Amino acid sequence: MKVFLTGASSGIGAALAAEFARRGATLGLVARRRAALDEIVGQSPGRHHVYAVDVTDKDALIAAARAFDDATGGADIVVANAGISIGVLTEHYEDLDAFGDVLETNVLAMAYTFHPFIAPMRARGRGTLVGIGSVAGVRGLPGSEAYCASKAAVASYCESLRVELKRSGVKVVTIVPGFVRTPLTAKNPYRMPFLMEPEQFARRAVDAILAGVSYRVIPWPMAIVAGLLRLMPNRLFDRAFGNRPYKPRRQPGAAD
Ligand SMILES: NC(=O)c1ccc[n+]([C@@H]2O[C@H](COP(=O)([O-])OP(=O)(O)OC[C@H]3O[C@@H](n4cnc5c(N)ncnc54)[C@H](OP(=O)(O)O)[C@@H]3O)[C@@H](O)[C@H]2O)c1
Repeated sequence: MKVFLTGASSGIGAALAAEFARRGATLGLVARRRAALDEIVGQSPGRHHVYAVDVTDKDALIAAARAFDDATGGADIVVANAGISIGVLTEHYEDLDAFGDVLETNVLAMAYTFHPFIAPMRARGRGTLVGIGSVAGVRGLPGSEAYCASKAAVASYCESLRVELKRSGVKVVTIVPGFVRTPLTAKNPYRMPFLMEPEQFARRAVDAILAGVSYRVIPWPMAIVAGLLRLMPNRLFDRAFGNRPYKPRRQPGAAD
């Protein structure tokens, strides 16, 4: 099993890399921090491939994908997991750049990740493309304007792709995490029901990916929450979430 995975240097991506490796996969790992990727592959030198690439650099990412396919004979599974979450309030001019960065990393870079693999997978008549969404994409949450928009876009984008590729033998899987304990959630100023450890999340996510499901919320109680959120009338939703604390906005000079 050959797996190309973005955002592998931290959190969910690092846990997915470890879980796939435990199940015997050869990995192609992408993130900007090479040292963190080197540490992850350190236990099996020579078997895995590391690409220190910014996923918003379309051509560099496509080159990494082609290098992985050339080295391994073709990826079986591609996971577009790299993502950022920054509090964004449209009324602040300086937040508009952060809005663009969130959409570019979470949505456009997912298309950059999948693009180079689609034609070879079609030719082989098999393969699995995995998009990492979020329960935050189900409804718009205050203070997370860009993140919620990006994850709603991920769900629609992956669905379009899934239906388009249905007859080609290429599967598209949308994995929708609830709350997972990672650096991305460390600064969340609100309650995180059903918070999971990344390793526990990764085991369930890899099971779902290998089963080829179309859409899976993890953990399952968050699927019920997501279903209820979807059905909630606006008046009730606005009252329930009106006082929710906001995710911190980008601070000048700070990393996302
Ligand atoms: N944690 C949760 O509760 C939760 C819930 C729902 C959805 N998610 C989604 O799960 C995914 C992973 O999140 P996480 O919680 O594991 O966050 P994390 O620990 O902050 O990890 C994010 C990963 O994305 C990579 N990344 C970010 N921007 C990148 C860029 N421009 N180019 C290359 N790599 C980039 C980071 O690597 P470098 O910094 O080394 O580049 C890192 O490996 C995201 O899509 C997130 O939206 C997470």
